Amino acid sequence: MTWRFGPSFAVFVSALLLLTSSAALADDAIVKLRQSELENLFEQDCGSCHGLTRKGGLGSPLLPEALADKSDEVLVEIILDGLPGTAMPPWRPFLTVAEASYIVGLMRKPKP
Ligand code: HEC
Repeated sequence: MTWRFGPSFAVFVSALLLLTSSAALADDAIVKLRQSELENLFEQDCGSCHGLTRKGGLGSPLLPEALADKSDEVLVEIILDGLPGTAMPPWRPFLTVAEASYIVGLMRKPKP
């Protein structure tokens, strides 16, 4: 078998891999930096409708039992796009996918 692409292709592929992995790292780093901000947002802003104890109010309960039948992907989508026709607003202007996933992680934990 011959190596048809040559070394410059290999360099290109490794550069691409490095770029995509550092983009993912940057995403995680931003979530880490904003962690306490996100926790506050979850408690205060989400809590204003869903209840400070997440047991529900205007919005439905956001406790692990209540969300067990929904996948992380669906919950991230609901957070980013809201639920049209209900009071649940879209958060896409304020949150990235990684940040919405972090909030889903918070919803999956029982309230301490
Ligand atoms: C202005 C009020 C309001 C705010 C603020 C709000 N929500 Fe909601 N949310 C709702 C309402 C109302 C529903 C229920 C809609 C329905 O199904 O009737 C809902 C539904 C949801 C659901 C779906 C729950 C389920 O069982 O299907 C999730 C998840 C959710 N909200 C997460 C959040 C998160 C996370 C935040 C903060 C980033 C937030 N919400 C902020 C009003 C709000």
